[in-house]
Amino acid sequence: MTNNKKTILSGSTVTGDLTLGNYIGAINNWKQLQDQYECLYFLADLHALTVHQDPKILKERTYSFFAQYLALGLDPQKNIIFVQSQVHEHAELAWILTCLTPMGYLNRMTQFKEKSEKHVKNINAGLYTYPILMAADILLYQADLVPVGEDQKQHLELCRDLVGFFENRYGNGILKMPEPYIGKMGARIMSLQEPDKKMSKSDENEKNFVSIIDDPKKIEKKIKSATTDSDTVVQYDLTNKPGLANLLTIYSVLSGKTMKELEADYEGKMYGHLKVDLADLVVETLRPVQAKYSDLMKNKDHLNSLMAKGAERARAKASSTLKKVYDSVGLL
Ligand code: TYM
Repeated sequence: MTNNKKTILSGSTVTGDLTLGNYIGAINNWKQLQDQYECLYFLADLHALTVHQDPKILKERTYSFFAQYLALGLDPQKNIIFVQSQVHEHAELAWILTCLTPMGYLNRMTQFKEKSEKHVKNINAGLYTYPILMAADILLYQADLVPVGEDQKQHLELCRDLVGFFENRYGNGILKMPEPYIGKMGARIMSLQEPDKKMSKSDENEKNFVSIIDDPKKIEKKIKSATTDSDTVVQYDLTNKPGLANLLTIYSVLSGKTMKELEADYEGKMYGHLKVDLADLVVETLRPVQAKYSDLMKNKDHLNSLMAKGAERARAKASSTLKKVYDSVGLL
């Protein structure tokens, strides 16, 4: 890694199962950035604690997500891949930023509103301050660009506000202003059954998403039963045919074909044809990923050692930023 490359940072919360949405909207883009940029990709396990977690499952899921990152093509030599809680500076910077964040800014966060409606019995303060921890994740590494889907843009805006507040109060250019990086295609993959909401890995109805580690039969079933409309013409029309548009988006990203090419391929054919072909394409795309994943999961020592190396490399950067922040806010 050379120093003149720009820094990219992104992560996923360790909840549910990584989905095709995470792959297309995030990891697939990350992969394409790994040669051009200095990239840090992490697993947000501290963020996962904002909803109740079974400790055993959380640990297992962290290994599983880490192995999926690698199996999906993120290279631990080219990128710094790490687990958030193994770099203690995240929680520490989050506290400093918490003391700079006006409550009014957090009240506006739509994800907090959605999540607190969903988890009425567990509206904890962590759920509320979650975007501050996310800002700390980004700012510790002086990230230039943050690839996120549409759903995370508001959080990134808060992060940018916090850089401004910090600068206004301490004015020493310590924290870098990050910019969003949105991939050209597939920024938002929608739920298979309810195409007006995003495909979410923590969806209770598993028919709504395809998980990276679903077996071929399940993938086929889920895609074939995806909601479409009663028309028959295969045409990309987000307003009138949102379900079909979503399938076409997935198809286009995975096959590299344009919408126009796909529309031509399916001229005069039924939606059913497209679903069968798309299911095949998804299964074949994920087959080598799943094989690599099961190999990786057989050797936890190897995963532990990769995690430790990632955390060490991440900490080298994080501790340097935190030291400057502590000094500038007056901590000895
Ligand atoms: P998370 O875990 O919800 O999602 C991880 C990444 O996947 C993207 N994504 C999607 N993209 C397209 N279509 C979808 N259906 C879809 N679902 C998810 C998300 O936009 C995200 O890029 N708070 C973050 C994790 C995080 C983070 C950070 C990200 C914590 N700290 C710092 C960037 C920088 C989250 O919960 O993402």
